[in-house]
Amino acid sequence: MPLNKFINISDLSKEEIEEIINMAMLLKKEAKEGVVRNTLKGKSFALIFVKPSTRTFVSFHVAITQLGGHPISIHQSSMGGRESLHDVAKTLSRYVDGIIIRTFAHEEVEQLSKYADIPVINALTDKYHPCQIIADYMTIKENFNKEKIKIAYLGDGFNIANSLLQLSAITGMDITVASPKGFEPENDMIKEAKHLALKTNSKISITNDPNKAVLGADVVYTDTWTSMGMEEEAKQRIKVFASYQVNQRLFSLANKDAIFMHCLPAHRGQEITDEVIDSSRSVVFDQAENRLWTQKAILQLMYQ
Ligand code: CP
Ligand code: NVA
Repeated sequence: MPLNKFINISDLSKEEIEEIINMAMLLKKEAKEGVVRNTLKGKSFALIFVKPSTRTFVSFHVAITQLGGHPISIHQSSMGGRESLHDVAKTLSRYVDGIIIRTFAHEEVEQLSKYADIPVINALTDKYHPCQIIADYMTIKENFNKEKIKIAYLGDGFNIANSLLQLSAITGMDITVASPKGFEPENDMIKEAKHLALKTNSKISITNDPNKAVLGADVVYTDTWTSMGMEEEAKQRIKVFASYQVNQRLFSLANKDAIFMHCLPAHRGQEITDEVIDSSRSVVFDQAENRLWTQKAILQLMYQ
């Protein structure tokens, strides 16, 4: 598969998603056997992180290094005033072999990719988090081996919910997103997911009822109520989202073998309780680990 960018889950077909997962599983297995790949030997990568990060930043650094490449961290890039996105893209294209970017506006990533002569990877925007969601799909596949998977996503209809809607629609999983009124995913996101779902028979549901969403779910997923950049709204959001907290009572409405998922960072006592995130049903650190394998797989498929 000629993977020349990784910006949005809906840029990918079901087959391409499965190819990334299969490669990630192979790389995970190979690492245990001591196999070393040098796919990125002699290649350099610019990591532009306008927002904070622990998992994405470190796992990309490690992924690039393990594949023999060289990561360069740019914390104060020219983006956002000093020069145009066009000129940043053209300049970086003369030095490095790929750009990994985390920023606010999704349009900036789209534009950077349009002007760059090298692959661009979206490391999170206000609209999408495809690297997280592809790793989550790997984690789901490691836990279930059945035809129909049902996901309940509880909380803010923001970047994680959007990418999860796309993934579910493309791969044929059923998903119910439960958000407070006014915090549902945007209409164009729901419309796109429903359209993609026509091909795979995935069921896309949006509700304001957290209990209804969790009933019969295989996966219960939540994210922070206050995403990066929304800090000023935190107090109000804690009140609005209170009944969407994934606690033992709510989690027990899911299937017996259900797993709990969270992209992290978690806010214990807000969207999730210690009891659930620290339970044997929680796979949050498997999700974090699988960021490494799926990102290595993306890089492998881009540069092999
Ligand atoms: N899940 C995730 O993207 O974590 P970071 O914000 O720490 O990168
Ligand atoms: N929705 C969160 C995800 C963090 C990985 C945020 O954007 O802050």
